[in-house]
Parts: sequence; structure tokens; C-alpha cells
Amino acid sequence: MKPKLRLAVLASGSGTNLQSLIDQSQQGKLDVEIVLVISNNPQSGALERAASAGIKNLCINHRNFPQRQDFDRAVVTALQQAKTDLVALAGFMRIISKVFLEAFPQRIINIHPALLPAFPGLHVQKKALEYGARFSGCTVHLVDDDVDTGPIILQAVVPIHSNDTESTLAARILEQEHKIYPQAIQWFAEGRIIIQGRSVTVSGARSADVALINPACE
Ligand code: GRF
Repeated sequence: MKPKLRLAVLASGSGTNLQSLIDQSQQGKLDVEIVLVISNNPQSGALERAASAGIKNLCINHRNFPQRQDFDRAVVTALQQAKTDLVALAGFMRIISKVFLEAFPQRIINIHPALLPAFPGLHVQKKALEYGARFSGCTVHLVDDDVDTGPIILQAVVPIHSNDTESTLAARILEQEHKIYPQAIQWFAEGRIIIQGRSVTVSGARSADVALINPACE
């Protein structure tokens, strides 16, 4: 039997995306072994979620490292010791340096709660609302040397309602994140992701065939 893809997850916050990966792998829908969870934040819910699922977890607190690169070196060492194949950032609030990128070329992915290239960075649900956008969504992309700029793997579109607040919009986007992140990782596990420059194709995947209009035409 082919060995499972060895996935490591890096998170700083509550860890609901991590939880969706744990749940789907326990349900046999995601064919990976989650070998390690790392957080830079000792309070991160991700560490508890990993511990409850019996997954090795480590807090590497960035505050203990004077330079970003030293922190990244410690993270890379832990990832390499766990023989990590793929690194999934899931609400990991640190910028990835060259040291990290070069250790895992095209093997670091991220989930972002907006439809990139619109609204990179932080507080993006608020920015989408303030802009008056009719749609936002979420994006799974490869990580490159800038913030939220790497090649896009897949996206989900979420309509913005006129009565949305930052938190209602974030919750609806998060629901989609929990679907598309496991899917993207499963495609990696199946060896179906083909990267050519900025273009990522998923071998055998069906293209979406609906256009969305918001507000709806009458
Ligand atoms: C998600 O919205 C993710 O897209 C963003 O940070 C949030 C993390 O949420 N990068 P959680 O910790 O997975 O619940």
C-alpha cells in the first residue's frame, strides 16, 4: 500500500480548519496522516484539538526568537523531523521567510478568507463589506514569498448579504473553508495537483458550471 501523505498543520487561532481536517481524515474522506500540529501561540485552540485527537503538537513561540528566520528554522527542523510532505497553514499568523519556503518548495499551502487577489492581508471580511463587494469567499493557494499572492488552487464564492456583519460573513466563509481545504489537500494526496508557473490544474477535476449574480436578477 502507498504510504499516506504526511501532513503538518500550522495554526495560531481557534483551529476550526484543523478540526475539519482531523474530522475528515477520521471519517476516511481525507487520506493523509496528520503528523504534527505547530502553533506559535501557546493559547491556540489548535494545540488542544490536536492533543484530543492524539496528534503530536508543539508550541514554538515566536516571542522566544529574536529574528524571524530563527523562528522559521526551529519550525523547519520540527517539520523535517516529522518527515512532513505537505505543510498546511490554517490561520497561521506569521509571515513565512525564505528559509521556510526553500525547505518546502511548492509544498506549503494556505487558506485565506477572501477571493484573492481581492483583499489580501488581515481583517478581510471587514474590508469586503466596507468596499461594498457583492461576493467574497475563500481561497486555497500555494505560499510564495509575498503575502497571499501564491498560485491559486481552488476558491469558493460566498455572496455578501446587505445585512451582513463582519462576523456573519466570516462564519459563512468559514463553512466553505471547511469544505475546500480538505478537498485541496486530498488532491495533493492523490497526486493530482499540477503546478506550471501561476497556473495550477487539478487532473480530472470538474470545472464549476454556474455563474452567480448578486443581488439576483428578476
Ligand atoms: C480562517 O478564516 C482562515 O482562513 C484564516 O484564519 C482563520 C482561521 O480560523 N487564515 P481557524 O483557526 O481555522 O478557526
